[in-house]
Amino acid sequence: MCGIMGYIGERAAIPVLLDGLSRLEYRGYDSAGVAVAHDGTVHVRKAAGKLSRLREILERDPVPGNVGIGHTRWATHGQPTDTNAHPHTDESGRFVVIHNGIIENFLPLREELASRGHRLSSDTDTELLAHLIEEEYRGDLVEATRRAVRRASGAYALVVLCAQEPHRIVAVRMISPLVVGFGQGEMLLASDIPALLPYTRDVLVVNDGELVVLTREGVQLESLEGGTVSRSRMHVTWTAEQAERGGFPHFMLKEIYEQPRALQETLMGRLDGDGPVVLEDVHLDAAFARALNKIWITGCGTAYHAGLVGRYLFERVLHLPTEADYAHELRYRDPLVRAGDLVVAISQSGETADTLAAARLCRSRGARVLAVTNVVGSTLSREADDVLYTRAGPEIAVASTKAYLTMLVGQVLLMLYLGSLRGNLRADRARQLVEELAVLPRKVQEILNHPAPVEALAREVADSEHVYFIGRGLDYAVAMEGSLKLKEISYVHSEAMPAGELKHGTLALVTPGTPVVVVLTQAHVYEKTVSGLQEVKARGARVVAVAYEDDPEIGKLADRVLRIPRTDDLLSPVLAAVPLQLLAYWVARERGHDIDQPRNLAKSVTVE
Ligand code: M6R
Repeated sequence: MCGIMGYIGERAAIPVLLDGLSRLEYRGYDSAGVAVAHDGTVHVRKAAGKLSRLREILERDPVPGNVGIGHTRWATHGQPTDTNAHPHTDESGRFVVIHNGIIENFLPLREELASRGHRLSSDTDTELLAHLIEEEYRGDLVEATRRAVRRASGAYALVVLCAQEPHRIVAVRMISPLVVGFGQGEMLLASDIPALLPYTRDVLVVNDGELVVLTREGVQLESLEGGTVSRSRMHVTWTAEQAERGGFPHFMLKEIYEQPRALQETLMGRLDGDGPVVLEDVHLDAAFARALNKIWITGCGTAYHAGLVGRYLFERVLHLPTEADYAHELRYRDPLVRAGDLVVAISQSGETADTLAAARLCRSRGARVLAVTNVVGSTLSREADDVLYTRAGPEIAVASTKAYLTMLVGQVLLMLYLGSLRGNLRADRARQLVEELAVLPRKVQEILNHPAPVEALAREVADSEHVYFIGRGLDYAVAMEGSLKLKEISYVHSEAMPAGELKHGTLALVTPGTPVVVVLTQAHVYEKTVSGLQEVKARGARVVAVAYEDDPEIGKLADRVLRIPRTDDLLSPVLAAVPLQLLAYWVARERGHDIDQPRNLAKSVTVE
């Protein structure tokens, strides 16, 4: 996500801020900015693009001063432009804020502030916080910040500078990370430890619901209710490289563990109790949704696998003919796409050449293109008619994990959205799904809390030459993704197929000891999938099942069971994929491969 850096001390603030931000560059960002308090004013400089652009601006137009805040933005609300870059101010320019995360009640707050005459100059949720603080200010920045954040809901880390109180920086953490650094006669603040390491190794991790007041002399930690909080600082021994990965040995593992938070962000502000799903950049109307002929889903690799889940959901729940195809196939097969069709183009990066080409082709034939992407301002998002941002945050490992899970949830949201427009999803069924969606992040966390069975299994199968993945319906879609994950980072040959297809050929390759992973979460085809399981078991396969924790039968049938919490069968891919991601990771680790940058692969495939 975005990067935060703050400094108060003896040195010139700008070099420290730029240095800290550059140490957060690995996280990805699309714009950057700084604000420094000096001579009774807070001076802001910001620009879309890389830090080098901001540096150029600062060289031309420098700012002295020893108190400042800096930010690298990964867009969630509004395009990556100069105006939307942080810091943001109120109209007077006295209150300056930077912010990571998402303000959930963005739309009502924006209307409320506009109705009271506030002139909002950006599309961001962050700017609202500057205006809220201005409204609440009665001579004390700490109190004003406290009152302002009570009016905002969501997940965020907020940092505030005020022209009238240049001797302190105020910050609040609500879910998004924030760390205080202790220097000699100086104090620092950052969203992540790597930014602080050249200045100090003594840090204090701010907890959710805490407010921080930073002065040159030290830090005061308070609860949002106003009580004092005391916690001792800790000494960090990580290298800069370890710190970039948040202490995880690889970005892939870090990103797997970030999934509960990523899912929370995907859902944030979009499910409003009994109301319809809010998809801020999707503008389909009831007339279009009711007259819809067909949905086409397209993408490549993991994005295509996410689309296989979408195909199943749209067809089954919305009763709409839906086709999913690889973008590089769709674009060359002269598809019968026409006006009145909806094309859902899925791409983490929004830059995959084949996906862009397929989306353009469909659009030129009159279809409406809806992008499901993680990158605000990406080519796909700019060219599409509608955009559903997945909000996974920057994904650095080549093997996609959190992007996949958020693509799944994004499509469930789209299904609910279309279902309410078309009127063919019963309200009680929609409510059930909404309730279950809301607890999915916690259930993913439960799986992540117990990795030991997957690690043990990985040791058992790491020497295998071939691994097969089978399932039916949604379980087949998950099997496809599990197989891709395994092969791309562990270099073990693997294949996924519908459980019913095995006996039509591939069963010939199953010999004693061959690992076969069976995904078994779909009640309506459970018995049928078990037949597939029996077929491989009879040939001596080592059967690994991914099944619900309360499945009473599976322990007797499989050699190993990877358990997942019970959920609605339509949502099970979100959970069933997680042990398979971990399996791929641990097998690759057992085999000693470069997990984050597997051979022959690139993060973004921008060539055809
Ligand atoms: O950025 P995109 O989602 O369009 O990328 C598509 C594929 O290249 C990508 O999912 C690839 O398959 C990943 N390496 C899978 O982990």
